[in-house]
Parts: sequence; C-alpha cells; structure tokens
Amino acid sequence: MERWAVVTGASGGIGLEIARELAQRGYALVLSARSADKLDALAGQLHQAHGTRSLVAVADLGRPGGADALARMVADAGIEPKVLVNNAGSGLFGAFAQADPARTQETVELNVAALTRLTSLLLPALLRQAPARILNVASTAAFQPGPGMAVYFASKAYVLSLGEALDAELAPHGVRVTTLCPGATQTGFQARAEGERSALFQGRMASAADVARYGVQAMEQGRRVAVHGVVNQWLALGVKFSPRRLATAIAAWKMRSV
Ligand SMILES: NC(=O)c1ccc[n+]([C@@H]2O[C@H](COP(=O)([O-])OP(=O)(O)OC[C@H]3O[C@@H](n4cnc5c(N)ncnc54)[C@H](OP(=O)(O)O)[C@@H]3O)[C@@H](O)[C@H]2O)c1
Repeated sequence: MERWAVVTGASGGIGLEIARELAQRGYALVLSARSADKLDALAGQLHQAHGTRSLVAVADLGRPGGADALARMVADAGIEPKVLVNNAGSGLFGAFAQADPARTQETVELNVAALTRLTSLLLPALLRQAPARILNVASTAAFQPGPGMAVYFASKAYVLSLGEALDAELAPHGVRVTTLCPGATQTGFQARAEGERSALFQGRMASAADVARYGVQAMEQGRRVAVHGVVNQWLALGVKFSPRRLATAIAAWKMRSV
C-alpha cells in the first residue's frame, strides 16, 4: 500500500532535501510551496530516480486560508498521509519597529498559524494511519529570544513548544512529533530574510542535505527534539543554564551586521 508524506516548502532548501530523503524511503509525496515550476521539476526528478508518485499542491501558506486550501487538495486526491512535514518557514532580519507590518504578519501566518492549522486539519488522517509521524522544522532560534529577528525567533519558540506538547499528547495514539532544530544552513533563506550580512551567516554553514537526512532519521527514531550539529547541541544546552538576559544579549550580538 502507498505511504504518503506531505512536505511543505518542498520547492527548495531543507524541504526539497527532506522530500528527496522520503522518496528514497519509498514514500509517495505531496509537494507543496508557491513555486509550481520548481515543484513540477522536483516531482519529475523523483519519479525518474525512484519511481515516486507525487501530487504537486501549490499553496501560499503565508496568507489566511492557505493551509485549508492545501488540506483540501490532499483530501480531494483521496490521500491519507502517514507523514506530515511542516517545513515551510521564513523570517526577516531587522528591528521590529522598522519592519513592514505586512511582512511581520506573513511570518506569523506562515511559521505559526499555517503550521498549526495544517496540523489540526491533517491530524485525523494521521491518527487513522498510525503509526504516523509529524516532523516540524523549528530552528536553534527556538531556544532564546532574538533581538534583530524577534518575530522569527519567537515563532520558532512556538514551534518547539507546540511540538513537544503534541508529542506528549499524541505518542500514546501512535503519532510521534519530532521538532528539528537546525542552525545556520546554506539555503535561499538568508537572501529571502535580507540577512546575508548578519554575523550569524558568516561562518561555515551546514548543507541542506545533511540537515534533512538528520531530521528524517530523527523522525524515524521517534525523537522529540533533534538539534542538528554538535556545536549547536552544546549551545542549546548552554542557553538552558544561562540567565535569559545573557542569552538574549548574545543572540543580539550574533545577529549584528558585519
Ligand atoms: N536556512 C537556515 O539557516 C535555517 C536555520 C534554521 C531553521 N530553518 C528553517 O528551515 C525551514 C526551511 O527553510 P530553508 O532554509 O530551506 O529556506 P528556503 O530555502 O527559503 O526554503 C523555504 C521553503 O518554504 C517555502 N515557502 C516560503 N514562503 C512560503 C509561503 N508563503 N507559502 C508556502 N511556502 C512558502 C519556499 O517555497 P516558495 O517560495 O516556492 O513558496 C521554500 O520551498 C524554515 O522553516 C526555516 O525557518 C532554516
């Protein structure tokens, strides 16, 4: 029987690599993002490489109603997913006071509201398909406040908190929820976020393929929280034992333009 996985943000970066990992494991895929051309190209590549069946589901999750539209496409195709990957996300560098309120709202819509809505809408099918999995892509930003990218950091703290609580609620019903926390990763994210000059992205960055492989393995193992990279794991641990004010000041320093 076909096992379906829904992947948001599959047109590039970490989401595209997660789709590749799942295709290698024999999943049929619902590939979602806004860029239809990129999704079509990926669907073609995966079919050629692994014989993967894909449904391309174009949806803008940064607008109200986007998650509903995606869930409707999944249901209309008669698909009952066994895996949901909430990967689509974006952020914007800069001071909150100077940010365009529409773009601030879009970050909350995409990173918080759509992720929550899609999870609620697809959960009944996931429960019917149990054992099933949800993989939410948060960030190491989830562990402390981030002046200079305040809404993004707060949105990822929400993703982490929601994921941990849902895993506790759903594990007894056969649905495990893994929250993947990557550090700086080489994707289109930095340019979209207008943060290429931030000190955070000047060092060596992880590859999207490595992060995706690590995340999918953590999901398969049913891990609750998976922080990618040993340095990031130590930093996340350090934040736990640091005064909140100090962790916030260090995050602000790391966000500075260089
Ligand atoms: N890169 C990093 O350093 C880093 C670090 C930690 C966590 N993360 C997280 O990793 C996840 C993936 O990011 P990435 O680094 O792979 O970034 P990316 O290369 O910019 O990819 C983002 C994906 O999300 C989709 N997307 C963006 N806005 C959307 C919208 N309004 N509606 C639907 N889909 C939308 C994009 O596709 P379309 O443009 O085609 O819609 C794309 O497929 C995000 O949740 C991000 O917060 C990234």
